Amino acid sequence: MNIKELKDKAFKELANVKNSADLENFKNKYLSRNGEISSILRSLKDLPINERKKIGPEVNQLRVEIQGAFENKRKNIQTTNYKLQTTQLDITAPGIKIPHGHLHPITLTLRKIEEIFQSMGFKIIEGFDIETEYYSFDALNIPQNHPARDAWNTFWLKTKPEKLVLRPHTSPMQIRFMEKNNPPFRIIVPGRCFRYEATDASHSHTFYQLEGLMVDRHISIANFKAVIEQFLKKLFGEDVKMRMRPSYYPFVEPGFDIEMKYPASPPASPNRGESLGGSSGKWLEIMGAGMVHPNVFKYSGYVPDEWQGFAFGIGIDRIAMLKYKINDIRLLYSNDLKFLNQF
Ligand code: FA5
Repeated sequence: MNIKELKDKAFKELANVKNSADLENFKNKYLSRNGEISSILRSLKDLPINERKKIGPEVNQLRVEIQGAFENKRKNIQTTNYKLQTTQLDITAPGIKIPHGHLHPITLTLRKIEEIFQSMGFKIIEGFDIETEYYSFDALNIPQNHPARDAWNTFWLKTKPEKLVLRPHTSPMQIRFMEKNNPPFRIIVPGRCFRYEATDASHSHTFYQLEGLMVDRHISIANFKAVIEQFLKKLFGEDVKMRMRPSYYPFVEPGFDIEMKYPASPPASPNRGESLGGSSGKWLEIMGAGMVHPNVFKYSGYVPDEWQGFAFGIGIDRIAMLKYKINDIRLLYSNDLKFLNQF
């Protein structure tokens, strides 16, 4: 067979190649070591030298052409196969489960808390992660050099001339809100707080608080207790146990801490199910609170004798820990999916 005939035959066959199996047969027939082109090349050695010199390059040229056409065909078939695979819809095939994200336990807790306070007429106000020294301390009746400032283990920012801080509590919004609004009102202020604090099972350098403030004429501790009891019952159920203990915060008088004990239940997992302090349960401080100090009203531009109010600052993380029986606050910030996927 001469070269021209071989070429015509190969190209005709290649045109009829329809799938990967045909392609493989074609390759074996023409391009493999035992294929037709190789056998022609091998047979050249029996020819006289001048014929060899003429035919050799022609056969090589033919091989290059067939190889090129073969590669193109292969690409076409691959593309067709891919299109078939991706466009054919098998409605009987089982579905692919797409993993869904979900809300973080702190967000879940915060949303629930907001819902409860909203049902009692509280409006949600937002504050700032970065605050001034004035709103964080001075206006809250904690002047410079007052020892109570130490309690807030504050991160100070390197700013001049105004001293700025990473908000160590949500209380600054008490003043900011009262400066611009007249009583009566009820507000809550959720927000992230920061303290230069050694971390342990119940302390984190970053955590969440929710400030509450209610101002009206004739507000008493009884009103505060009723609101907080109602809040805790709605969140934890009727048999929730809380206690109020006297405490000191310069911006309230009198001041108290609220502690809570949740009925212990058997551990469900090493990280969840056991309340802080073991199976017998333990009192955990969940908020600071008190009746708004007259000086705070003065700083806000109110006449102290005309108004009374209560304020509180709830630790959201601590509530989440009690609600979901989490025994270490650090789990909330560890981004461990084994833990987070339980919610
Ligand atoms: C305050 O920050 C006051 N601003 C609360 C307040 C508001 C008192 C209004 C009176 C009137 P305290 O430092 O105790 O107080 O913090 C309040 C709550 O935040 C604590 O009970 C606790 O639940 C939570 N908390 C405080 N520090 C941390 C921390 N490092 N990690 C996690 N939670 C914390």
